[in-house]
Amino acid sequence: MAYESYAEFLEALEQAGELTRISQPLATELEITELADREMKKPGGGQALLIEQPTVNGQISAHPLAINTMGSARRMAMALGAESVDAAAVELGSLIQAKAPTGIRETFALLGQALTLRHAKPKRAKTGPCKEVIHRFDAPAPRTEPWPSAPDVNDTSTLDPQPSTLLDLPILKCWPLDGGRFITLPCVVTRDPDTGDRNLGMYRMQVYDDSSAGMHWQLQKVAARHGRRYYDTGERMPVAVFLGGDPVFPFCATAPMPDGLDEFLLAGYLRRKSVEMVKCETNDLEVPANADIVIEGYIDPTEPLRDEGPFGDHTGYYTLPEPYPVFHITAITHRKKAVYPATIVGIPPMEDFHMGSASVKLFMPILRMTFPEIVDIALPAEGVFHNLVFVSIKKTYPMQAYKIMNGLWGMGQMMFTKYIIVVDADVDVHNTSEVLFCLCACTDPQRDSIFTKGPADVLDHATTEIAVGTKLGIDATKKLPAEGHRRTWPPLIKMDESIKLKIDDYLNKRK
Ligand SMILES: Cc1cc2nc3c(=O)[nH]c(=O)nc-3n(C[C@H](O)[C@H](O)[C@H](O)COP(=O)(O)O)c2cc1C
Repeated sequence: MAYESYAEFLEALEQAGELTRISQPLATELEITELADREMKKPGGGQALLIEQPTVNGQISAHPLAINTMGSARRMAMALGAESVDAAAVELGSLIQAKAPTGIRETFALLGQALTLRHAKPKRAKTGPCKEVIHRFDAPAPRTEPWPSAPDVNDTSTLDPQPSTLLDLPILKCWPLDGGRFITLPCVVTRDPDTGDRNLGMYRMQVYDDSSAGMHWQLQKVAARHGRRYYDTGERMPVAVFLGGDPVFPFCATAPMPDGLDEFLLAGYLRRKSVEMVKCETNDLEVPANADIVIEGYIDPTEPLRDEGPFGDHTGYYTLPEPYPVFHITAITHRKKAVYPATIVGIPPMEDFHMGSASVKLFMPILRMTFPEIVDIALPAEGVFHNLVFVSIKKTYPMQAYKIMNGLWGMGQMMFTKYIIVVDADVDVHNTSEVLFCLCACTDPQRDSIFTKGPADVLDHATTEIAVGTKLGIDATKKLPAEGHRRTWPPLIKMDESIKLKIDDYLNKRK
């Protein structure tokens, strides 16, 4: 199902009993976080919240703020327009079953072809609802001096009922020690200057003033690679950021699609309707016509980088200031009745756990084409995306668990994984207690573990150097003689099925 606006998605959530409206004014400075955090910590992820009157420095914003809209398995499936995320995954997997690929690159190439064939290719539209209100700004002269270290986040100038600057939007200051306000669900569009390939990624943005923001694309992300090419040539880099529209967009912006494969193909496929794209007012990039808010601008490679942060992050800790490019705004366009979608990250579980879990499920059939022995994968909430991965496999030969660990560490954003625990097929990787039981019972620590080195998540504060880390893999599968275990492996304690049924029957009769 294709949603034509964020408001339409919110309506669907409300009808499904998944949305709570908050009509009393709530401050974008910390108060919305506290309410949303309590909601996200409820069993199953609580409700989506529509804050009808968010306030910015005490004044009510013209636009409502939606949060936790993808923060449960059901809402995540609804955002994808699917009955369940599993159903969407099976369908996506079946698209590329026709020809067995020889490796992950070929798998993704096949996926790209299949998505294109499914009429998922984006279409060009002349205009769209995202252009109902248009504000253009003069491009400021590039800065040559270093930036001041702290932005003046409280200078909100005038609050326009039709927002014209960043400071008019209900952008959150999420946590007490945050360095300012952050746009937390931005869909960022960039283009590879060499190939013309488009990328859609989600990289948070710290508001510096009414017309500039930090662009927090991390070192290993696709937009950062695009950016480096502009820094090589010194050419101005066009960037377009949009919020809202179909909720499938923010999901696709976070999905680990390989570099070079357009996320709008995946979006078109999932919503079963090509995404209509319109050209920006002040650069040549395109954004979805049905977006709620579009922020156009550029990055000037001749300018110094500027400190971004601190920010209360996915890791549960503040990420300390680090230098990032400055995004200068040349236009803001939006619907007359735009909704501002947001999220918060912090100590898990949070809304992003459900987004990450959906990505894992969706890409599982593709992963299995390269690693057919994989039964299931879980990224438990405590591991905040990359830190901890549980994998179950159908093991048929010695050292297979190590093949899986090495394969995963070499694959896209799985490179960030600190700990991988491999278990046998009968262990439920979504049950952390079962995995820990297996880890403790089925390993001899030195024999069954491997340390290796690799790129680390730049958010990881525990590594000695930023973005450089070590990894630990543990083989918690049943050991084979060739793996150094020459003793008899004992059976796991299990009751006979017939006895279980008899006792079930007895207990049922007693009720
Ligand atoms: C809520 C949320 C916020 C995120 N913020 C950032 C961020 O600030 N910087 C970043 O590099 N990745 C961030 N990510 C992860 C990226 O969106 C993700 O790695 C994505 O696949 C990147 O796209 P790319 O591979 O096209 O670069 C965030 C993810 C979520 C769910």
